[in-house]
Amino acid sequence: MHFPEYRARRLRRTETLRRMVREVRLGVDDLVVPFFVRHGKGIKEPLRSMPGQFRFSPDTLSKEIKQVDSLGIPAVLLFGIPRKKDPVGSEGYARDGIIQQTVRRLKDTFPDLVVITDVCLCEYTDHGHCGIVRDGTVDNDPTLDLLAKVAVSHATSGADIVAPSDMMDGRVGAIREGLDESGFENTAILAYSAKYASGFYGPFRDAAESAPSFGDRRSYQMDSANSDEALREVALDVEEGADMIMVKPALPYLDVIWRVRNAFDLPLVAYNVSGEFAMIKAAAANGWVNGDQCMMEALTAIKRAGADLIISYHAVEAAQIIQGLSKKASL
Ligand code: PBG
Repeated sequence: MHFPEYRARRLRRTETLRRMVREVRLGVDDLVVPFFVRHGKGIKEPLRSMPGQFRFSPDTLSKEIKQVDSLGIPAVLLFGIPRKKDPVGSEGYARDGIIQQTVRRLKDTFPDLVVITDVCLCEYTDHGHCGIVRDGTVDNDPTLDLLAKVAVSHATSGADIVAPSDMMDGRVGAIREGLDESGFENTAILAYSAKYASGFYGPFRDAAESAPSFGDRRSYQMDSANSDEALREVALDVEEGADMIMVKPALPYLDVIWRVRNAFDLPLVAYNVSGEFAMIKAAAANGWVNGDQCMMEALTAIKRAGADLIISYHAVEAAQIIQGLSKKASL
């Protein structure tokens, strides 16, 4: 292929031509919306570092999810903020815990909506770590029983998919066993397989009140320099019974998404995390970038890298653009 016989610009001449040769198409079916939920009634608290995002109580969340459902978005991912925290995060598996109540309510109101629950302890522990702490470090093996208990309690409430985000070794196997023993062999596991220790989780930790009270998460979350290790992490989760695998964050790790895509055939999910969202919002608020265009470009890039599904705080706005309900950003 040579110039002047080949001119790449011929097929870029009009929007219709561009539409015909577009390789990647972002659809509403690709999107999952994360939500933060807390106890109470009538709550819709704006999150300072995530413009347009809120903490909801179960009743106001139901109203919000009507919109998600009517846009055709297939799934939501729930994060809970408990009434009280303790060293073992016992509110995480309480029958009347915030996630348990919310899942029951949502599955009642929206039976077709896929409800995914984040399985982790950091929102529920008083030290803010993702497992049981002994001698200043997170103790892997005793944490596994607790995670399985949380997953079973989410499944009992009706969760379709449980998503462990703790990064303990062996947790997918422990959760699969726990679910199967309790008769939840049809509850799926979405494993946060390659989850990096990332500065991009900052706004999330404000929203979920889950920042660690000492130290950091580098002894369990991955080092951002590694991608061979990501393949090992994914392989372990697949062997242990994961139904879907995840790379998180998304934009700084597109190469990891690409490598995982080429090595595994399970549905691959990318988490476009809070800091990625906040950066686009902040720059757009300053008039420095076109927020809608950057949002659609970022989501398309994540799909192009190989993700099948994208968890994103942009999901509702992106779905509005895809459905033609809001001005089309040029893709
Ligand atoms: C809980 C969890 C975190 C996120 C998802 N699940 C925070 C963390 O690991 O510190 C981050 C999501 C986001 O930033 O949007 N372990």
